[in-house]
Amino acid sequence: MMARQLRLGVNIDHVATIRNARGGGHPDPVEAARMAAMAGADGITAHLREDRRHISDDDIVRLCNEIDKPLNLEMAATDEMLEIALGHSPHAACIVPEKREERTTEGGLDAVGGHDHLMPFVQQLTNAGVRVSLFIEPDIKQLDAAKSLGAPVVELHVGAYCDASGDQRESHLKRIIKAAAHAEAIGLECHAGHGLTYDAVGPIAAIETIVELNIGHFLIGEAIFSGLEASIRGMRDRMDAARKDA
Ligand code: PXP
Repeated sequence: MMARQLRLGVNIDHVATIRNARGGGHPDPVEAARMAAMAGADGITAHLREDRRHISDDDIVRLCNEIDKPLNLEMAATDEMLEIALGHSPHAACIVPEKREERTTEGGLDAVGGHDHLMPFVQQLTNAGVRVSLFIEPDIKQLDAAKSLGAPVVELHVGAYCDASGDQRESHLKRIIKAAAHAEAIGLECHAGHGLTYDAVGPIAAIETIVELNIGHFLIGEAIFSGLEASIRGMRDRMDAARKDA
């Protein structure tokens, strides 16, 4: 059987982090998105945070207008972000938890406890033709809640797996494999992301029920040493090799 295709969404947030450190226009995350597309990205991911610490509103406008790859807008479930998402109708919106004080997205969304709050966001985005995904922990209850919310896609938070080593990493991996199988069984498209590196990506890319990986920080960091194009091609090659051997 032919292995299922695995898409790569390149998250360009941290190009904007570097730009914002000096307040000018360089480096331009939209230019990075263009280069990512040439280097093998299937889509571009950007997180417009409440505090605008990296991606700006204008970046989102330009990504929608100037990039011909699908945009996956990461957003918190707030009225402000919903209005922005509905105004731009990106290809996809990934709803993430957001805490002002966190350094990055810590943990997945609580689709069980937040069910009633999330429902109107999923519905309004879906009605506007936006493909909604929920960023959740690899947990069966969270997957079932995502399904009952009517989201077509889940993105599994694989950060704990990426941060762990040895037996702990193995046990996180088992959880992710089980969750990805459950997603397929209940009819959810399964993505994964957060913390992926050259070292961590292989076993995740080998899970055939996962169809998309969203990767940012490592790729932008690695680009300092090898350039953005080479950094992305290196990830694409590792993903393809792991999927081929699966
Ligand atoms: N997926 C989601 C939902 C995220 O919030 C993030 C971080 O913004 C990523 C993927 C990318 O994570 P990283 O930058 O660690 O590769």
